[in-house]
Amino acid sequence: MTSWASIAFVLGLGLLAVDASAPWWQTASFYQIYPRSFKDSDGNGIGDLNGVTEKLEYLKEIGVTATWLSPFLRSPMADFGYDISDFKEVDELFGTMEDFEKLVARAKQLNVKIILDFVPNHSSDECDWFIRSAAGEEKYKDYYIWHPGFVENGVRRPPSNWVSVFRGSAWEWNEQRQEYYLHQFHKKQPDFNFRNPVVREEMNNVLRFWLEKGVDGFRVDAIYHAFEVEADENGNYPDEPRNDWTDDPDEYGYTHKIYTVDQPETPHLVYEWREILDQFQREHGGDERILMVETWSPIDIVMHYYGNETAEGAQIPFNFQLISNLNADSDAYHYEYLINNWLSKMPSGKSANWVIGNHDKNRVGSRFGAERIDLFNILLLTLPGCSITYQGEELGMLDGYVSWEDTVDPQACNGHEADYMWNSRDPARTPMHWTNGKLAGFTTGSETWLPVAADYAERNVQTERGIPLSHLNVYKRLQQLRQEPAIQQGAAEIKAVNGYVLAVERYLSGNYVYISLLNIFEHIENVNLNDVFSGLPSTFQYALVTDKSIRQLGDKVSSSSVTLMPYESVVLRSTTTI
Ligand code: GLC
Repeated sequence: MTSWASIAFVLGLGLLAVDASAPWWQTASFYQIYPRSFKDSDGNGIGDLNGVTEKLEYLKEIGVTATWLSPFLRSPMADFGYDISDFKEVDELFGTMEDFEKLVARAKQLNVKIILDFVPNHSSDECDWFIRSAAGEEKYKDYYIWHPGFVENGVRRPPSNWVSVFRGSAWEWNEQRQEYYLHQFHKKQPDFNFRNPVVREEMNNVLRFWLEKGVDGFRVDAIYHAFEVEADENGNYPDEPRNDWTDDPDEYGYTHKIYTVDQPETPHLVYEWREILDQFQREHGGDERILMVETWSPIDIVMHYYGNETAEGAQIPFNFQLISNLNADSDAYHYEYLINNWLSKMPSGKSANWVIGNHDKNRVGSRFGAERIDLFNILLLTLPGCSITYQGEELGMLDGYVSWEDTVDPQACNGHEADYMWNSRDPARTPMHWTNGKLAGFTTGSETWLPVAADYAERNVQTERGIPLSHLNVYKRLQQLRQEPAIQQGAAEIKAVNGYVLAVERYLSGNYVYISLLNIFEHIENVNLNDVFSGLPSTFQYALVTDKSIRQLGDKVSSSSVTLMPYESVVLRSTTTI
């Protein structure tokens, strides 16, 4: 018996049955793979699909239900795959369509669901549709947003003051067509015109194509950019008002985004796509296909993506509240507010999701401090709903150092050396650490597309497997606990015990009560759980400890006096059922 298995035995934790009628995704553990950086199977220093297939068993090992794969479709890689030139082909850098089919087949054997990254806002400028649009071909001419701009004193200027997320004007002049096209991201990522029904149908067919290939759903990229305000009667676009915090017209924050994001039509696109997924399921059977949508919008707008009175929307509109609003100084009341705010704003009958990192954000341990890595994993995996983990967060990977010379992210390269580290997404994208061997076991080759982080020898799968309270083993233990009915289906109460300690109670009649306790700061804290929760059993046991703990798994503790060491997070389980 492994040490975790014997501990589970002592605590009487079996893998208990869960509510079979609940849709699979509601309490799933999602895992985001950034294929370029996950596992390289052919030694060229860039991760690929066969690398993912090779590591699917690892996903089982860490209790993952489903994996979202960042894009691997044909692309000139100006934004590392988020600039797609063929929506129905695999890029040869990542492998072949056969490789993808093998990946899906193996995933099905292992019962790991596959979620494709769907990038509807834009294509690559090397996409056949854009090339034909630039050439003015009748069918394609309105696939993208075009405008001739204005000539003033003999000088041509763009149609509006809109700024690209990656700096500079969002309009790029096209010589062939003699017009500007809109690109909210890189100039090699022209924005589609979603007011054109033919474009909508084209993208609907992309969804159908991949559903046929057996994917279980889609992560929808940058959805809040999909529509811009409609052109006026003269075909012109209004300027956005200025923000006062920067004078740099190239900076994305130069304008206040009232015309380029969050237009009222946008959630309806998602409703349309949901209908396609549901129809596919009606026709082909199988488990529910899902949509996870990326929108960095105010919470009230995010809620529209769940659906409305007449239409279903995305099962999972990403909950970025913790990413956007917490920092290393945030106290427990702030955590409590953000979590409960999401739960209370969510339309009835919908399910929550929790995200703390992805390929666009610095690593959790780098944003919040390495001492809080387990804290966030415990929080995300014991809150009600589904959790989404970015690759390597289960190991506690930190940002890798990437020099200006080695920087490749367009968001940083379009800016200046002086502040590139603020903008660069490369540090969170350095290769995954598999072993303590050469290049972290990521590749058999001699180089990697981004440098391997310096601390790989201590933070890697192989080494952490052997350390009982490593981040990896804490994560695996959490996945075991997640099988418990109270955590799968139970009610949840989230309370700040004081400014330093957050408590999450999960309970279900006939079952043990679980409480996650997170000491966010560096002081020893003693808390009385009865101050915040009523009707608690008097005695608990440690069901999960971390390397900050002085107590052992299985130790008993009174609910009226729990001592937490600096930055210690634990999960307690009542010794009696309720
Ligand atoms: C999303 C992706 C990001 C990409 C952008 C443009 O925000 O997560 O990586 O650069 O969309 O597609």
